[in-house]
Amino acid sequence: MKSIPEIRSLFPILTREVNGKPLVYLDNAASTQKPQAVIDTISDYYARYNANVHRGVHALSVEATEAMEGSRKKVQRFLNAIEDREIIFTSGTTHSINILAQSWAKDTLKTGDEILISALEHHSNIVPWQMACEATGAVLKVIPVTDAGELDLEAFETLLSAHTKLLSVAHVSNALGTVNPIQKLIQKARSSGALVHIDGAQAVAHMPVDVQALDCDFYSFSAHKLYGPTGMGILYGKASHLEKMNPLFGGGEMIKSVSFEKTTYNEIPFKFEAGTPNIAGIIGLGAAIDFMYSLDWKEVKAHEQRILALALSELGKMEGMRFIGMPAERSGVISFLIDDIHPSDLGTLLDKLGIAVRTGHHCAEPLMNRFQIPGTLRASFGIYNTEEDVMLLAAGLKRVVPMLS
Ligand SMILES: Cc1ncc(COP(=O)(O)O)c(C=O)c1O
Repeated sequence: MKSIPEIRSLFPILTREVNGKPLVYLDNAASTQKPQAVIDTISDYYARYNANVHRGVHALSVEATEAMEGSRKKVQRFLNAIEDREIIFTSGTTHSINILAQSWAKDTLKTGDEILISALEHHSNIVPWQMACEATGAVLKVIPVTDAGELDLEAFETLLSAHTKLLSVAHVSNALGTVNPIQKLIQKARSSGALVHIDGAQAVAHMPVDVQALDCDFYSFSAHKLYGPTGMGILYGKASHLEKMNPLFGGGEMIKSVSFEKTTYNEIPFKFEAGTPNIAGIIGLGAAIDFMYSLDWKEVKAHEQRILALALSELGKMEGMRFIGMPAERSGVISFLIDDIHPSDLGTLLDKLGIAVRTGHHCAEPLMNRFQIPGTLRASFGIYNTEEDVMLLAAGLKRVVPMLS
């Protein structure tokens, strides 16, 4: 694999300064930075073959369509889906989950059915299900989280029943970094007859995902957390489910024929892709996947574990440090508080030192309530972060904490 300095050199933003200091970017769970290849691919589309897709006979439209459908194949291979028609382009994880909640759930669920989520979900994997439950009379059940920030698996088994129609859980927690034992969860849910959706927003940049091996029914993620563009995401679904689902939006592209008497819908995946798609974003996602293939998963993981271990050890030396959650399997994220200092005060002062971290509830308010805290300071790591970044964070905290104590 490329060395970390080589990888860093591919990301132009990493050479910039913030407040007169070299940027230390530790907000990768919110959004990752983009390699030059992704930026160039997007600009190349606009500069050389910008046109609408699927409808044109002219050269630019054909080129754009080929590039876009080429990206669909790249995503298919990246997730190891059986067919490329199982890959639906969306605007992000949030959009993907809303398609499921509005289309699959509203047509399938009835009073007394249950959807099972967990207490560590992002709001995107909570609110759409609440809306679906409200519309159908289904009930939302929640797997509790232990003090370590892991799912309570005994409680999961108790909650899972013949009433459970869908299990929808995060692969990795955005707030704590917990890697959920999704293989086990999927197996149990399937054996009780439930379908499974995995929110992979925080997983795809950190570990290989094989939807066939997992045997999940649906999997969603956002391109911008995978070194790709914003406004772009994926909903993977087994073809047998997608074929049965009604489209969420009506309009161009999603139809086979339209008349005032009767409209018939297009095949999957187009049935779910009404209107002109985010062509630049889709092609950019393809470039981000090419970038991921230039890395070696084993080394990505080893690098990340080295950074996490160093961060836990260095930050753990600080007086008043309170880590929120200490999951046995963790990926990319550390959440903490120091004494009773408000995390946003710490975050604002760290920014003065060029260090970008996230503060607040991380769109996981129920999880914060579980730990009886208003929020945390979250450092989240990407492939370009170094041991030096961790040391700068630790040194930065040592400098700013006394100002706020
Ligand atoms: C676990 C998880 N799910 C869903 C989302 C929502 O992603 P997006 O805002 O890209 O739709 C996020 C974003 O932080 C996330 O971390």
